[in-house]
Amino acid sequence: MPAIIVIGAQWGDEGKGKIVDLYAERAGAVVRYAGGPNAGHTLVVHGDKLVVRLLPSGVLRTETECLLGQGMVLDLATLREEIGALGQRGIPLAGRLFVSERAHLILPHHVLVDGLREAGAGKLGTTKRGVGPCYEDKAARRGMRLGDLRDPARARRVLETALAAWQPVVEAEGARLPAPEPVLAALAESWAELAPHVCDTSVRLDAFVQKDALVLCEGAQGTLLDLDHGTYPFVTSSSAVSGGACTGAGIGPTRIRRVLGVTKAYTTRVGDGPFPTELLGTAGDHLRQRGVEFGSVTGRPRRTGWLDLPGLRYARRVNGLDGLCVTKLDVLDDLEHVEVCVAYDTPSGRTADLPVDELALAKPVFARLPGWRTATSACRELSALPAAARAYLDFVARETELPIYCASVGPNRDETITLRDPYG
Ligand code: GDP
Ligand code: IMO
Ligand code: MG
Repeated sequence: MPAIIVIGAQWGDEGKGKIVDLYAERAGAVVRYAGGPNAGHTLVVHGDKLVVRLLPSGVLRTETECLLGQGMVLDLATLREEIGALGQRGIPLAGRLFVSERAHLILPHHVLVDGLREAGAGKLGTTKRGVGPCYEDKAARRGMRLGDLRDPARARRVLETALAAWQPVVEAEGARLPAPEPVLAALAESWAELAPHVCDTSVRLDAFVQKDALVLCEGAQGTLLDLDHGTYPFVTSSSAVSGGACTGAGIGPTRIRRVLGVTKAYTTRVGDGPFPTELLGTAGDHLRQRGVEFGSVTGRPRRTGWLDLPGLRYARRVNGLDGLCVTKLDVLDDLEHVEVCVAYDTPSGRTADLPVDELALAKPVFARLPGWRTATSACRELSALPAAARAYLDFVARETELPIYCASVGPNRDETITLRDPYG
């Protein structure tokens, strides 16, 4: 079974991009399956940084095919920008970038609605990229799919139907919908550039599966932002969990060999919603500064807190995790003690699970572990890590009952300690 899924085990920004870039070296194909330009995945190679929002994190591996599956929502201007930026770096995408004709398009009215809602009392702290309203159009069966652009008359009909549906919502806010003509003209221009990349990506993926070539499915967002399994309603609008890879990439569950969850050595969250292990004040600021915890898409400061083991156990269950990739261990390097949430006290008693629907009422129970107060970024072997850092990793592995596949000690591709072969 050739496919491996790499997903976020927390609230996003766990370092999925770094891990996927690392593991893509041996992958025939990397496929993104959910979300859109709300994602920002950072790749750093020899100090050279690239943030991808729609393109899969396999882009720097020029032998690897990159696919955008039908579970994604695409902003075509962003996609063209990203393709252009890669071209400027001399990285070829012709013949290796394929985009699903069934992926839905984020249109200007989606961005408008997202922004209007975020200006109101019911705001969720979204990335304001139109992702939620686009998935709403998809579920309402009036969304525009990339393949619709093949037929301009069809594209016009679809757009007009969607605009008519949103008109009362937008007018109630005292705003105006974007005029259709410029929207259609911009879409036609994008189509002219992107058409050679458009196909049924599930068929391409199947070709890799048939020849038993390795396929990497790249999650976006994280388990606790998943529409079904996250801290609803403070979630995104897609299936961020491993199951989303099957529907969003079009690969059957029987083809999945392994699911790996990426987690920071602590926790962050951007946007609103419960976060019981959050550190306010100077301790939180310290993690934010050391970890450079500012959103790669919006630049918003990320909320920071201690690692949440019940959250990782929850991620293990709903994703069927086989192992963890622990990132940003180095960010904890100078702490005297590291705290970890091991359980929750809730109105119905103490639990080792994440009480996901009553998180606002749950009180974290912490264990305190010794810090290591030694720089770890130069470590490339487990044995090179200070004993307390090894003990921290052991504690996480034992408490989650998950083996650790790698520990990341810096943003660069090579700042990684490999413990297990992801493809083994
Ligand atoms: P993603 O959305 O899950 O791909 O994660 P982001 O790219 O949004 O955020 C992760 C941030 O942490 C990026 O700035 C990475 O360059 C950085 N990063 C990843 N791994 C490490 C690590 O082990 N140590 C440090 N210090 N930074 C890391
Ligand atoms: P990556 O893939 C972190 C969060 C937003 C907000 C909520 C809903 O880089 O890990 P949306 O714009 O999706 O409707 O916002 O989800 N969010 C993310 N947080 N990383 C992401 O992606 C995120 N994508 C969405 O901050 O709380
Ligand atoms: Mg990110």
